[in-house]
Amino acid sequence: MRIFTFADVYTFLKRILFLLDAEKAHNITFLFAGIAAKLGLIRLFGSSKKNPVNILGLNFKNSLGVAAGFDKNADYLTTWEQMGFGFVEVGTVTPKPQEGNPKPRLFRLPKNESLINRMGFNNKGLDFMVAKLKNYNGDLTIGCNIGKNKNTPNVLAFEDYLACFKGLYPYANYFTVNVSSPNTKDLRTLQKHEELTKILNPLLAYRHTVSQKMGKKPILVKLSPDMEKDEFKNSVKFLNELDIQGLVLTNTTIKRNILQVNGEKRGNENGGLSGKVLFEESNGWLRLAKQYMPNKTIIGVGGIDSAKRAKEKLECGADAIQIYSGLVFKGPKLVQDILKIMN
Ligand SMILES: Cc1cc2nc3c(=O)[nH]c(=O)nc-3n(C[C@H](O)[C@H](O)[C@H](O)COP(=O)(O)O)c2cc1C
Repeated sequence: MRIFTFADVYTFLKRILFLLDAEKAHNITFLFAGIAAKLGLIRLFGSSKKNPVNILGLNFKNSLGVAAGFDKNADYLTTWEQMGFGFVEVGTVTPKPQEGNPKPRLFRLPKNESLINRMGFNNKGLDFMVAKLKNYNGDLTIGCNIGKNKNTPNVLAFEDYLACFKGLYPYANYFTVNVSSPNTKDLRTLQKHEELTKILNPLLAYRHTVSQKMGKKPILVKLSPDMEKDEFKNSVKFLNELDIQGLVLTNTTIKRNILQVNGEKRGNENGGLSGKVLFEESNGWLRLAKQYMPNKTIIGVGGIDSAKRAKEKLECGADAIQIYSGLVFKGPKLVQDILKIMN
C-alpha cells in the first residue's frame, strides 16, 4: 500500500512553488522531475494505465498529451512518459536558437486558475531538438510543433517551417504547424489561407519526395481562438481540401473578457491567456471546426483541468486532448484522473 503519492508531493510543493516567479518555479520543478525520472521514481507514482488508440494512423499509448510549449526542447521526455502521458508535442522549435522575450514573461492568475505568457518562442533551436529526439527510444508518440524565428520576415517564414520539417522528419511521429502564437509579431497573419498555402505547399512537396523512404508523416495546423468567425471558417474549409491530417485547437487568446474572477493582479499583462477560462472559448472553435472538417483529426486543447472537462472536450469532437495550464494548477493527479476515464 502506498503511503503518499506523487500528487500529494506536488500539492505540498505547489505551496512553495507558487511563492516563486512562475518561470523559475517551472524550471525548478522540471529540474527535479528530470532527476526523479532518471531514477525511475516518477514511474512508481505515475499512471501505467494503457488505453491504446489509433489516431492519425499512429498507435498512441493513450490520447492524453502534453501541449506545446511545456517541453520546448524535448528535454523531459522520460518525465512525461513516466507520468503516463500518451504523447507530447515538443516545441515550438525554430531553426535557430533564440532567447524569447525579456523576463518576466509568464504570469499566474490564481483566482482564475489561468496563465498569461509572452514567452516568444524561447528555444534551443532545431539542431538541439534533433539530437534529443535521436536518442529517444521510449513509447511516447512525438509531435513536433514548428515555427519561425523572430527575425525571419513573414515573406520568408516558409523557409523556417521547411527547415524544421526537413530536420525533424526522421524523428517526429507527426507535425504541428504553429501559426497562432500571439507572442511573435504578425505570426497569426499566417493563418489566412493565402499565407497558409505558402507555408504548407513546400512541406507537402517535401513529404511527397520522402514518404516512400520515411513514411507519410501527418501534418496538423494549430489555430488561434482570436480569428474572426468567417476568417476561421475559411481557413478550416481551405485546410480541409489540402492533404493535411487535421488541426490542433486552440492556442492561447489575447482576449481578457473571458476572465471570470475580477481583481487579478496580473490580468492585464500582454500575452496569451490559457487555462480554466479558455475552456468554453476553445470548445466553441472546436465544435465549429468539426462542422467544416468532419473527417480529419482534431486535437483539443484549452482549459482542461479535470477528468470531467477532458470528457467534455472529447465530446466536442476532439480525437485526442492536451493539457498545459491544468497541470500547473492541479499537478500530476490531473493526469491520473483523466487516464482513469479514458477507454
Ligand atoms: C507558458 C506557455 C507557453 C506556450 N508555448 C507554446 C508554444 O511554444 N507553441 C504552441 O503551439 N503553444 C504554446 N502554448 C499554448 C499551449 O500549447 C496551449 O495551446 C494553451 O496553453 C491552451 O491550453 P491550456 O489551457 O491547457 O494551457 C503555450 C502555453 C503556455 C502557458
